[in-house]
Amino acid sequence: MEDKVPCTTETGVSDRYLDQVQRAQRDPEAFWLSQARRLVWHKAPSHASRSDFGGDVRISWYEDGQLNVAENCLDRHVLTQPDKAALIWEGQEDGQKLVLTYRELHAQVCRLANALRRLGVGKGDRVAIHLPMVAEGVVSMLACARIGAIHVVLFGGFSAEGLAERLMDSGAVVVITADVARRGAKAIPSKITMDEALVACGAACTVRHVLVVPVTGTEVPMQPGRDLHFAAEVAMEMPDCAPEIMDACDPLFLMYTSGSTGRPKGVVHGTGGYLVWASYTQEVVFAAQPNDVFWCTADTSWITGHTYVVYGPLCNGATILIYEGLPSWPQPGRWWDVIDRNNVSVFYTSPTVVRAAMREDADVVRSRSLSSLRVLGTVGEPISPEAWQWFHDEVGKACCPVVDTWWQTETGGVMLTASAGQVPGRPGAAGLPLPGVEAVLVDAQTQTEVEGAGDGLLCMARSWPGQAMTLWRDHGRFRQTYFTTCPGRYFSGDGARREGDGYFWITGRVDDVVNVSGHRIGTAEIEDAVATDAEVVESAAVGVPHDLKGQGLVVFVVPRTEGSLDPAAVRRAISDGVGRYAVPEQIYVVRDLPKTRSGKIVRRLLRKIAAHDLSNLGDLSTLSDPDIVEEIIAQVSGQA
Ligand code: WTA
Repeated sequence: MEDKVPCTTETGVSDRYLDQVQRAQRDPEAFWLSQARRLVWHKAPSHASRSDFGGDVRISWYEDGQLNVAENCLDRHVLTQPDKAALIWEGQEDGQKLVLTYRELHAQVCRLANALRRLGVGKGDRVAIHLPMVAEGVVSMLACARIGAIHVVLFGGFSAEGLAERLMDSGAVVVITADVARRGAKAIPSKITMDEALVACGAACTVRHVLVVPVTGTEVPMQPGRDLHFAAEVAMEMPDCAPEIMDACDPLFLMYTSGSTGRPKGVVHGTGGYLVWASYTQEVVFAAQPNDVFWCTADTSWITGHTYVVYGPLCNGATILIYEGLPSWPQPGRWWDVIDRNNVSVFYTSPTVVRAAMREDADVVRSRSLSSLRVLGTVGEPISPEAWQWFHDEVGKACCPVVDTWWQTETGGVMLTASAGQVPGRPGAAGLPLPGVEAVLVDAQTQTEVEGAGDGLLCMARSWPGQAMTLWRDHGRFRQTYFTTCPGRYFSGDGARREGDGYFWITGRVDDVVNVSGHRIGTAEIEDAVATDAEVVESAAVGVPHDLKGQGLVVFVVPRTEGSLDPAAVRRAISDGVGRYAVPEQIYVVRDLPKTRSGKIVRRLLRKIAAHDLSNLGDLSTLSDPDIVEEIIAQVSGQA
């Protein structure tokens, strides 16, 4: 068993960490060029960054370097540790387990890569991956990377319309989906939903083939010529495949995420910079050791699943664990059993999971050993000091550092954290910027940087290797979204507070993005879906505090005629247009929305009313119809 990482709660920041911070500050070019040596390159880069946050904005890392990501994650480990487990998969039914060594994972990836090439997929083509947590998901991502195809992993909870929108925007030529996905007692009809999505794409459909992975072995409709059995396609191929040599700035994948306008954004990550970032952060944040069994519980369809289920730990030669099922199905404590059975050493999850576990009987966690754990981490939303402490005391048995990690789809990997064994953890705080990360706070009014302790918009003053390069086919929107609020800097969309000693506390999004159980949902996305109901005049979606999910959604809807609108229809519109995961906690059908005289919806008021916080509502006399506020308050308290 590995040595425990010291819990540095009592001691200060390590000298090694401070030294790295200084080195990176003194000479960022040299620092990042030396980090590039983590990878194997066909052509080593001669310089690190040619990025520029001004003008049209250019994000460029290791520009003249050439490499292949799958080779970095597989081939080099096949040479040194072919029989080491690369991937452990456990299914949600008892006893379902699969272990793939590096040699076996490499062979699977090569077979699929060959099959994709045979189906006409080449460098730069997009491949959509729509799978639950099965080994084939990881194999598919790496197979795309091997042949230079750009993967687009799509969440199983998206509706057919949500899938169609992303398939069309990305122009995917092949889709890899499941027959049926399991989620506890529920069966999710993945293939049927995908079929509906392809119908919804209509004449604009670019998809030529659909590969179906037999997750449950359920028979599903297959369209001759288009639909193919994954297993059969893979079985007919050789276990070796020459990797495509990629330029460092070629895209590796697109990841759709929500912003403050309705259309999801296709965040584009590059090849060299992203992989350096995945490898660097996985090692530094989690004090990674060669024998780690690394379990990041995120779904591979989110950025966390890309960087810390797949690319970071595999690039560094660890063993990754993926588990198909829910934390408490078929009984509470399921995930603790997965940890004990597989000797998981690093467990990286979400505050939502921690909050849910805290509510269970204390005996559930106490009856498990959990002695293989070395480091615990959370991501995606703030973790309260109470939840942090519970995680530390009950899961970590008070001897594992807990790393809260702040980052975003756009940052590629962790940016702020209390790196295990190097930076003392502080319950509730996100921690310090990693060496090389130049996090700054900008005053929203004056546009000046806040020095020392204070509050402001969380920005980055300088590019870092994991930074997204652009938005898919919309560089103008990329520039507009991230580089105009605080010119010359990358603006994260979050507000933060810094203590005198440099620790950051995240205060939450300052834009119209709501974080439900770590799922980033744009309120405009919800409103667009609601607007498809002809009975709706307009609507406003807001986030409210939620005990379990962190934030919940509340939607206010104005009907065309009084009594004409059924909240169930609104719920359906959201479920169909976005997905079940975005269905709100509450829907209020109201006569009108509070607006300024110039017609702007005053969301601040709606947020407070929805959260039953009626203090400091402010001066209502400037509204176009001040009475509507009292009416909505009466309605919300009546239904509470
Ligand atoms: C929020 C997930 C507080 C934040 C990796 C950010 C957090 C958004 C934390 C990105 C954290 C993420 N503490 N808030 N540790 N981590 N967030 O793109 O608002 O799905 O902007 O990336 O989640 O969500 P995304």
